[in-house]
Amino acid sequence: MSSPHATFPPAAATLSELPRHIAVVMDGNGRWARRRALPRIAGHRRGVEAIKNIMPLLRTRGVQYLTLFAFSSENWQRPSSEVTLLLELFASTLENEIRRLHENQIRLRVIGDLSRFPHALQNRVAESMALTRANQALNLTIAINYGGRWDLTQACRALAELVERREISADAISASLLASRLCTSDLPEPDLFIRTGGEQRISNFLLWQLAYTELYFTDTYWPDFDEQHFEQALMRFASRQRRFGKTAEQIQAAPIQAEAAAPAPA
Ligand code: IPE
Ligand code: IPE
Ligand code: MG
Repeated sequence: MSSPHATFPPAAATLSELPRHIAVVMDGNGRWARRRALPRIAGHRRGVEAIKNIMPLLRTRGVQYLTLFAFSSENWQRPSSEVTLLLELFASTLENEIRRLHENQIRLRVIGDLSRFPHALQNRVAESMALTRANQALNLTIAINYGGRWDLTQACRALAELVERREISADAISASLLASRLCTSDLPEPDLFIRTGGEQRISNFLLWQLAYTELYFTDTYWPDFDEQHFEQALMRFASRQRRFGKTAEQIQAAPIQAEAAAPAPA
């Protein structure tokens, strides 16, 4: 296996071997802080710095979509002091970084159930998304109070309402119609999922959207995840063969692009 400091891209890499959309569970902030005898929020703050540090590399590697899990629907169960600090960190980071994101042509989306947040924060999020709406250099999506089960449930509810109002028949519900009601409906499915912090689980992130995503787990805590770790993840991705249900021989005969290979609507 290649070392985390090997250079990228490997000789044979082509653009099709680079992920267009990366989804990240940024885990390990608390343990990073505990190891240094710091409060957990110090780890979360360093986690924000880690995001900022990898952004330039993402762009040079042609990544078009980055989706970050910042706060799960289950994270409300943490001590209220940590929840408050995490939400304050989200609000202040949004405030401090939105201008720079916009200058760098980055489009910001925030997904999740925002209804539980103060109105002022909901408004800031809406304004930030509107401000950056036309930007095309990179699509940055922050998942906050997000849960894959919540997303699927709200999509099902929306479709049930259409059936109830007789705007569609139950038979018309297809995989693509359901996907169109998820809050990621205007994003391609992730090509690469990265989870830092050593745990090997999805933790209710993009349950539907990860169906054919390549999974990459690393023990590195998120605040330590730097450009070299990121390149290591890209190299591992480039070494995978995505088959989408086909055989290896079929793929060798006719390589497929991920965007063309999404499972056909049921
Ligand atoms: C991930 O880091 C950030 C959030 C869940 C908000 P953690 O806070 O889960 O860090 P660990 O897992 O306790 O180390
Ligand atoms: C997942 O991390 C959520 C985020 C990174 C925002 P957790 O630390 O909450 O996940 P579990 O509890 O270990 O599964
Ligand atoms: Mg954790």
